[in-house]
Amino acid sequence: MDDAIARTGKRASQGKTLERRQLIYLSFRKDDIGEDVARIASSFMWDVTLVHDCDQLQRALKHAPVKVVLADLRDAVSKLGACLVQTTHKYPNVQWVGLVEPQAADSPTYAAFLHSYFFDFCFLPLEPLRLFFSLGHAWTMARVADIHADTVSVDAGTAGINEQGLIGSSPIMKTVRAHLKRYARNDLPVLITGPTGTGKEMAARYLHEHSDRHDRPFIAVNCGALTPSLVQSELFGHEKGAFTGAHQRKIGRVEAADGGTLMLDEIGDLPLETQVSLLRFLQEGVIERVGSDRSIPVNVRIVAATHVDLEQSVAEGRFREDLYFRLNVLRLVMPPLAERGTDVVELAQHFIHRFADELGLEHKVLCPAALAALSAYTWPGNVRELMNRLKRAIVHSDRQAIGPADLEFTTLVSEPLPSLAQARNEAELQALSRALVTTNSNVTEAAEMLGISRVSMHRLINKHGLSAP
Ligand SMILES: Nc1ncnc2c1ncn2[C@@H]1O[C@H](COP(=O)(O)OP(=O)(O)OP(=O)(O)O)[C@@H](O)[C@H]1O
Ligand SMILES: [Mg+2]
Repeated sequence: MDDAIARTGKRASQGKTLERRQLIYLSFRKDDIGEDVARIASSFMWDVTLVHDCDQLQRALKHAPVKVVLADLRDAVSKLGACLVQTTHKYPNVQWVGLVEPQAADSPTYAAFLHSYFFDFCFLPLEPLRLFFSLGHAWTMARVADIHADTVSVDAGTAGINEQGLIGSSPIMKTVRAHLKRYARNDLPVLITGPTGTGKEMAARYLHEHSDRHDRPFIAVNCGALTPSLVQSELFGHEKGAFTGAHQRKIGRVEAADGGTLMLDEIGDLPLETQVSLLRFLQEGVIERVGSDRSIPVNVRIVAATHVDLEQSVAEGRFREDLYFRLNVLRLVMPPLAERGTDVVELAQHFIHRFADELGLEHKVLCPAALAALSAYTWPGNVRELMNRLKRAIVHSDRQAIGPADLEFTTLVSEPLPSLAQARNEAELQALSRALVTTNSNVTEAAEMLGISRVSMHRLINKHGLSAP
């Protein structure tokens, strides 16, 4: 196998000098396989630094231009958790590759952990060629991440926002961001709908930040929180003495947003009489302060949002149809958190860092069971509920790792029980993989080990899609 690497390495280096790459190998174990790792990796141009704990890892990362960390994950998940949080926060572009025992990766909680933090993993015992490719790909990805980070920070400077503003790499959130960026190129009204806590206000801000109006005000008005008697003056302002208590002139929210974006949040709660004035403003582009008949031109981009069904409000006579058609030009529906796949984990990790920094507390890590619980829950309160649960967990938990109970999941979530057929299938796959790994893919020996014929062995290999040489 080492010859194969040497040949691959030679082919790769033909015609140009390869630079040596820095690899950190992290292992908490005494009986580690560090020597093997160092020998294999150095044969394809990696300089390996062996570290045994998080402090050593941090020092090594500080002093060398490292792009890849290889971690031995055997019995290390709980120790590694805290270390990963600290390190990925500080060095987000460094890519992690794990060394894993084959049977461990089959557990859903372990899989969630791997999926959250690791670029790739290799099964033990070490297969040099597999390691060669994993580390190589991880290095390339880290390099791309470095280049991308440089561009993003330049964009952030010009656009006033970075992509982190509306977190989530699920396809559905990518589509949401793409729509918002497209909408940002014009001034048409946008109506954002979606369940509570899905980020409707955040989406409106994102739109504003990506538009030409980004250096002008973004004003959000919660129409549901305005008292009926004051809603008119809040929106359009008033002149001194316009009514009892109006001791001085006040600029309304619409006027304050001149040149920028006005977000009319919870638009469905706007009283009918104010709906008329708003409609007039939308049609004519002018406002009149309460107590004045002078028309003031105001140029704002309107983004309205609601979690109620406006069509139904129109049908029930609680919302003016003409206003509805004025607002409902471009549409955006914010998806529930439960439909965003692994975004929940991405968001959770982001909030853990953010709240720890805000509250001056140490950065904690989500244990694998907590990651699984986050993914299994239905999130009726969406992102806001996730934030609240995490905030409470960070404040209340004394442990380094946040568990399902800290997130108040004790009775709410349990891992779904597999059917007997699924369980049998998984056990079969596990036994098969172990036998093949142990015998270095020798079908005859593996069949003997499992007490079955070669024919059955081939049938099972085909059934589980495991190709044997
Ligand atoms: N994709 C996201 N990335 C980061 N933070 C988010 C995201 N979506 C929502 N949030 C955060 O979640 C909280 C709720 O978001 P927001 O207020 O925009 O939701 P909403 O849909 O307007 O809720 P409501 O219907 O209750 O008014 C905010 O603190 C926001 O910063
Ligand atoms: Mg809102």
